[in-house]
Amino acid sequence: VMAEKAGYKHFMLKEIYEQPRAIVDTFRSVLDLSAFEVFFPEAHLDRELLSKIDRVFLVACGTSFHAALVGKYMLEKLCRVPVEVDLASEFRYRDPILDERCLLLVISQSGETADTRAALVEGVQKGAHCRAIVNVLGSSLARMAQGVIYTHAGPEIGVASTKAFTTQLVALFLLSIYWATKIGTISSESRREALQHLLELPRKMDELLNDGGVIQHWAKRYVHVTDFLYLARGILFPIALEGALKLKEISYIHAEGYAAGEMKHGPIALIDENMPVVVLLRKGELYEKMISNVQEVLARDGQILALVEGAKDPKIGPLELQLEIPETCEWLAPVLFVVPLQLLAYHIAVMRGTDVDQPRNLAKSVTVE
Ligand code: G6P
Repeated sequence: VMAEKAGYKHFMLKEIYEQPRAIVDTFRSVLDLSAFEVFFPEAHLDRELLSKIDRVFLVACGTSFHAALVGKYMLEKLCRVPVEVDLASEFRYRDPILDERCLLLVISQSGETADTRAALVEGVQKGAHCRAIVNVLGSSLARMAQGVIYTHAGPEIGVASTKAFTTQLVALFLLSIYWATKIGTISSESRREALQHLLELPRKMDELLNDGGVIQHWAKRYVHVTDFLYLARGILFPIALEGALKLKEISYIHAEGYAAGEMKHGPIALIDENMPVVVLLRKGELYEKMISNVQEVLARDGQILALVEGAKDPKIGPLELQLEIPETCEWLAPVLFVVPLQLLAYHIAVMRGTDVDQPRNLAKSVTVE
């Protein structure tokens, strides 16, 4: 078993460290570097079809649902097409309004999740165009969909999804670029720039993985708390949800992800000196607003654990726990920010002595309702 884990203590840790490789495998097969173009032959999404689509539904469960939430930001901004995101278990029972101008895109690591399968069946019955982003070749969803985009994460054994998630984000990014190119909402210059960021991503991820010691130190400090709060805005908001989910799944600590703008509508009541608050900050239009949220937490003696894109910013003030995230474009920032959150959950879980790869009550794929 140790051999299968390639010397890592757990599959989850191995899979976290495999992410730079998994990302390369996911883009290598669909990227033509000479022309800086994306190709998705198996997706069956040609220009004619894409220009007809006026609504997209991204549907998934668990961690794949968080990828869908990130996908909404990318597709709406890059392709100017309205996107609805749904949990498969809700979508399948709410009689969704679908027709031949809709694209239903289900996202799944295993391709076997019962609710996601039912969502796809619903889409086919209602005449929507149905596609799937899946990791497992030949899985049910891969066979049922009218076109597939594969993530090439390789087998994921740990119940808590890591490399499948980051490759889903990359697949959604590539799809957005491809779509925007087909319908003409992106210039070739912006496309080249975005893809250049993608090419640099694996190296930046390696940098983050080599910084793992910082996160171990954070983990040690908070191993005994009972609650955690994760705050972010914009395209990083789903990463706050995912960070909280990772912690819940494997450490059994109660954790909540929140859109930082909603803090005043509830979670702020929970903040005291015992509450660690993870904040995700990247430069851009929402930066100042995040800084205000940080100050609100500090004013209530909450403990800030900050992931900050780029070099230290004196404006944030003397934060004790701060980790620098390499700079990239907005679309790919989620792929980097999630890595330290995976490691934080992992190290806390190990220190608490839980069964990291097979947490209690959870299954790798939920094939029955
Ligand atoms: C289970 C797993 C999660 C996964 C979710 C969706 O809950 O424990 O890690 O995100 O199912 O699975 P899927 O295979 O459809 O992505």
